Amino acid sequence: MARIAYVNGRYVPHREAAVHVEDRGYQFADGVYEVIAVRAGRFVDAGPHLDRLDRSLGELRIAPPMERTALHHVLNEVRRRNRIENGIVYLQATRGVARRDHPFPAEADTALVVTGSRKPPPNPGILETGVDAVSVPDNRWKRCDIKSVSLLPNILAKQTAREAGAYEAVFVDEQGFVTEGSSTNVWIVTSGGELLTRELDHGILAGVTRGTVVKLAESLGLSFAERRFTIEEARRAREAFVTSATSYVTPVVRIDESTIGNGKPGSTAHALFEVYARYMERGDAAA
Ligand code: PDD
Repeated sequence: MARIAYVNGRYVPHREAAVHVEDRGYQFADGVYEVIAVRAGRFVDAGPHLDRLDRSLGELRIAPPMERTALHHVLNEVRRRNRIENGIVYLQATRGVARRDHPFPAEADTALVVTGSRKPPPNPGILETGVDAVSVPDNRWKRCDIKSVSLLPNILAKQTAREAGAYEAVFVDEQGFVTEGSSTNVWIVTSGGELLTRELDHGILAGVTRGTVVKLAESLGLSFAERRFTIEEARRAREAFVTSATSYVTPVVRIDESTIGNGKPGSTAHALFEVYARYMERGDAAA
């Protein structure tokens, strides 16, 4: 079955989907994006993703590409035309096409591209093995709360992880605090049993999965706080895990040379993996 993409008003075969060479996303990374998971044919947390898209666009003063109901329709059409039961829909909105010049163009229409791909749902096998992570200095700009397509430090960090045989790279700020993963939010369970994830500020993305997992942790009655922790606390933690629309809840069993807990995913990651997997399937916050 041929894949279909949406490009500036048209549904086109994926292999022919292209944007203009003077699209400001291509020239300057002047754009934002979202990745929304699809589970059992439905979007997971579409509302919060589209709220965050509006916020990212607003912070960069890029006009919304269209009304939210129309945008939702396009996302769903891409999902439907690609017959995605489980997977993701990716959307990217840029400041549009204009002759290359740094200031905002006087006239340009926001460009919108939407693609979709299939991907397996959460695999409980990850609860047997977990994944490894490495730490890297956080050398990003100071507005990581904006979901910008400018991801060079993130891809370099992810490549460092891959070359070390690890799944994720964890960014560490100049004070030694963990900010987030290269494409995930980071959580630990301290040696004292407290579940922590960094508080929201301009240093991290407000992950939609993070927000849902906060609610699920509260519904499970876990001892939880939003506060920053150091990479040393993370290395000494009882448990660690990362969250995102594509990683779901993924337990981390090693950071650099340190084994986390007993080297196996712990009970908190286990519980949150399961409750999040059910939430995705049923869209039921009280799962
Ligand atoms: N990344 N932090 C960063 C830097 C991210 O890129 C992401 C998501 C997250 C988690 O956000 P959410 O829970 O809303 O997916 C945190 C997406 C999946 C990506 O770039 O592919």
